[in-house]
Formats: sequence, C-alpha cells, structure tokens
Amino acid sequence: MNITLIISGGIAAYKSLALIRALKSSGHQVIPILTEGAQAFITPLSAAALAENPAYTELFDLKSESEMGHIRLSRESDLLLVAPASADLIAKMALGLADDLASATLLASNKPVWIAPAMNPEMWRHPATQSNVARLRERGVRILGPDLGDTACGEVGTGRMLEPELLSAAVDGFARPGPLHGQRALVTAGPTCEALDAVRVLTNRSSGRQGFAIAEALAEAGAEVLLVSGPVALPSPSQVSVIRVESAAEMLAACRQALPVDLAIFTAAVSDWKAASPSAGKNKKNGSQSLRLDLVETDDVLASIASDPQRPKRIVGFAAETVASEAELAGLAEAKRQRKGADWLVANNVAQGAVFDADRNQVLLLRDAMPPESWPEMPKQQVAQQLVARLIDAQ
Ligand code: CTP
Repeated sequence: MNITLIISGGIAAYKSLALIRALKSSGHQVIPILTEGAQAFITPLSAAALAENPAYTELFDLKSESEMGHIRLSRESDLLLVAPASADLIAKMALGLADDLASATLLASNKPVWIAPAMNPEMWRHPATQSNVARLRERGVRILGPDLGDTACGEVGTGRMLEPELLSAAVDGFARPGPLHGQRALVTAGPTCEALDAVRVLTNRSSGRQGFAIAEALAEAGAEVLLVSGPVALPSPSQVSVIRVESAAEMLAACRQALPVDLAIFTAAVSDWKAASPSAGKNKKNGSQSLRLDLVETDDVLASIASDPQRPKRIVGFAAETVASEAELAGLAEAKRQRKGADWLVANNVAQGAVFDADRNQVLLLRDAMPPESWPEMPKQQVAQQLVARLIDAQ
C-alpha cells in the first residue's frame, strides 16, 4: 500500500521513525510529511532516509509542488496516517484549516484518514479535544488510541501514542481485508461509575476483559471497531478506537455518537442505579449511624440504541444472572433479550461471584429463531473469538 505518513509535533514524533521502518518492512511505500512542530523533534532527512522517499514539509515549495503537490500527496496514497496526531493538528482537521502542507493534504484527501493521537492526558481529556475527535470520527476518520500509561511529560494517563508495531499491524490488517472488512462495530465494556457525592461512586466488579477481547477479535476479523469503556485497568486493544467514559449517561452519549454502525455488542456492566441528586460536596456522617441512598434508574444503553432510528443491523447483549440452573438462565435471558430489543444475547451465570474479574467464562448463546447454544467454560478470549466466528457466519 502507498501510505502518506503525516508526522505532527510532539515527543512521540521520534516513534514515527520506528513506524516508518515497521511499515517499510511490511512492504508498504511511505511518503512522510512533517509539520513544523515535528521538525523540532525529528529531521526530514531521517524520515526520508528511512522511508527511502523524499520527506515533504512546505505547502508552497516550488520544487515539491512541481514534483508532488498536496493534492497529489493526498490522492496518490491508499491511506493517510497521522502519527503522532497532536491536539493542534486534530483541531485544525476538525475545523478544516489548511495553512500548512499536512493540514492542506488532509483537507484535500478523498482517501481513508487514520490518526494516532499523542498528547498530555489533560489535553486529551479536554472537552475541546474530545469534541474535535468526535467530529473527526463522525466524518469517518479512524482514531487509533491513545493508550494509557506514562507520558513523556511525566504524567500518567491516556495520551500515549500507540506503539509503532501496533499501528503498523493495523495498516497490515487494512491492507489484507478480513471477513468483517467494511463493517463498523460498536462494543461497550467495563463497569460504569455513578457519582454519589464528590468522592464516592456506585460501581461493580466488571473488569472489562470480555468486552476488550471481543473488540480485539472483531478488529482482527477486519471490522472497524469503536470500544466505549467504563473505568478499567486494561490497555487499549490494537486496531481499536477506544472512548473511555465514567457514567451510564456518558456511555449512552458516546454510543449514540458512534451511530450508524453495523454491529453493536453490549458487554458493559452498566450500573442500573445512580444517585437521584449527587451532592456536589462530600456527604458527612449524619449522627444517625445509617444512611438512606435515594437512587434512580440509569439510562439503558442497549435498549436505547436498539430503539434508535439508526438501529444497528445486529445487536448482541450480555446478561448477568444469579441462577441455580441453566434452564433458569435460559428463561431469564430470553425474556431479557426480547425486553431489551437485542437480536442475540450471551448469558452468564454470576451466582458465586464467578465471571466478574475472572479470565474464563461459561456462557449460553441465545439467537433469535435458533435453539440456545451452551458453550463449555473457556478463556474470555476464546469466547470472543467464537462469538465473532458466529457473527461472521451470520453475515
Ligand atoms: N445494559 C445497558 N444499560 C443498562 C443496563 C444494562 O446497556 N443500564 C446492557 C448490558 O450491557 C447487557 C444487557 O443490557 O448487554 C443486560 O444487562 P444486565 O445487567 O444483565 O441486565 P439489567 O438491565 O441489569 O436487568 P436486570 O436488572 O433485570 O438483571
């Protein structure tokens, strides 16, 4: 594939050199474009030497305009990859600015655009960045990462650029379309956290592992995957765009924004309850040695998406039930499938605290108009692969 690699300013720019090397070794052609900011961290010469192609920097450079202008740079590639994508370049893209070669090439592009954001965690979390990213996603830009971890500025949080090998593997996956190529999939995972007061939350023991494994398996099968996750301690799966949220309301908003999608898989253990009126401050002990919490139901993410005018073509729900037998599990789960408007439902028995925060899972798969399938206990990754295999068969 021919890849135009746009490198913007940030310490992660040094990883772009390893990315060029990884893309080249997979047999891709790379044409680097460096923004002015990128050139503070790496030189066009090193990018060009590794790419074995000229590296471009100037919008109005007579020589490169005659050799390859920004229109050609955007048209003659199969993919425009922005890595690292700084907060500034993301903002320019969202606004449609074109005041340098990188932004002009992106604006002139009629090819898939992928971005691998890298920035300080506060900058990533900032509503301005989040709404810019949401706008780009709506326009079909694929967002890879960022990942959780230490950042160069010494802060820990979400903001690290995905590792070059992961980005290069995502490009390889795109070059060799899998069975779900062209399908957009939405996955929810993890618990949600509902604020009770300034310091306390209502949550559950979900680790997010099953949902993350499903998102990864869908991406491996070639789907374009958006994973909306509550607070979990898992790194972003490769080739998957991850939006991290806290509450059920945030999870629903992120899912609505992701529509339209072809597939939606709801593995999240969404809190059913939230405080009727969470206090802005910290609740103090009241001297009565007991506390009554006034709770109201949260939004039902699955049911809301199932009744949305842009309903995904196939919706898979999960159900956690505390039951004594598989027959009881099947009965409750089938009623839940129909009540929520899911096409398929994967049911777990969580009776002895099993499943939550475990590596293995034993599930019952219910599908509309098909007999239930009971799967033996297996690692969550295998449950994910088997579920994705069923989804591929059902296409
Ligand atoms: N779910 C959701 N939003 C909620 C609650 C649940 O999207 N507010 C989704 C879950 O992700 C899962 C399915 O609905 O796919 C069933 O979740 P479960 O917790 O088993 O069901 P509940 O809605 O809690 O129903 P009940 O309290 O009757 O068990």
